[in-house]
Amino acid sequence: MSIIKLQDLYFKPFISREKISAIVKYLAKSVKADLPKDEVPVFVGILNGCFLFAADFMREFEGDCEISFVKLASYEGTSTTDNVKHLVGLNEDLTGRTVIILEDIIDTGTTLQEIYNIFRDKNVKQLKIATLFFKPEVFRKELPIDYIGLSIDDKFIVGYGLDYNGLGRNYPEIYQLSTKPKMKNIVLFGPPGAGKGTQAEFLKNMYNLLHISTGDVFRFNIKNETKLGLLAKKYMDEGDLVPDEVTIEMLKAEVEKNADANGFIFDGFPRTQSQAEALDIFLAEKGEQVNGMIALEVPEDILVTRLLERGKTSGRTDDTDESKIRNRFNEYNTKTAILKDYFDDQNKYYGINGVGSVEEITQRISKVFDTL
Ligand code: IMP
Ligand code: MG
Repeated sequence: MSIIKLQDLYFKPFISREKISAIVKYLAKSVKADLPKDEVPVFVGILNGCFLFAADFMREFEGDCEISFVKLASYEGTSTTDNVKHLVGLNEDLTGRTVIILEDIIDTGTTLQEIYNIFRDKNVKQLKIATLFFKPEVFRKELPIDYIGLSIDDKFIVGYGLDYNGLGRNYPEIYQLSTKPKMKNIVLFGPPGAGKGTQAEFLKNMYNLLHISTGDVFRFNIKNETKLGLLAKKYMDEGDLVPDEVTIEMLKAEVEKNADANGFIFDGFPRTQSQAEALDIFLAEKGEQVNGMIALEVPEDILVTRLLERGKTSGRTDDTDESKIRNRFNEYNTKTAILKDYFDDQNKYYGINGVGSVEEITQRISKVFDTL
């Protein structure tokens, strides 16, 4: 899950699919548990927002039941209005029936008031209200709500049937209104020796970004013999990738240290899909995102030559032995190539020809940078 944009507004991930499904299950079970044994309830969904909730609720409900809908509207944009419009009314006879209202969200309670009004003269046996979400801070009525899935802060949400100006209903998760992202975050990508470090150095100055090189972060931690550093060293000496949890923790700490930055150039991270997912979630919680992945593409034989050259002077033990270098390419090819697809799926992958002079390559990259 990452941030989404609907017309002029940005929303950040708030409630996962799994959590929603657990809440719906819990509501269906609670409603069922309170019903007399052979009672066949009529669920009445309040359109439009309830359509996904009502569908999932009904599938979770064990036992005979019926469903109907009314269509009411009180919201315009992101704020409630006092007049509730009846767009589709109730036309069946519900005399003597147990009616359970299915609402996606109760906010001020204006809509709920209208529901109680509608049922006042319908002679139902019982009227109960089940709402997926509830905003206690803004609820202004003295009306009973029998089942609440989750109480949330007074912030506008979309997804899972809920909309902003008609949009966002199709997302399977819930997103919360956020601010426009302030950062430009770039993932610089490419096999060992592709020139990521060199390019990052130029780009961070051109765009006033912070460069986070996983390698540097590791070497710093190793040099200072931090707990994570010693752990990481064991893996790096073998030419293996450091386990995701260790890497992610180090990187998060680095971002947190520089919370006011204009953005980051991530170099050497993420390297696996689970790292990419962790980065997406981590940034999304801040209302930020990865703007793009820039991948330097260089043929392997050129890379080997470059690395052996660098190994002569850099003192990096993983740069002096060709078989270790090849081992890193294998790691790169098997694990990291998946990332191309991951970012491609989000339309965030940009392949750049990494053969040429440093200036030429910088120019190619900044052309893409300017569009992000
Ligand atoms: P109320 O009448 O103020 O309680 O608002 C209820 C209706 O407003 C819901 O059925 C929704 O259609 C809409 N609504 C309230 N809060 C939100 C929100 O955060 N996102 C999307 N729609 C909302
Ligand atoms: Mg509604």
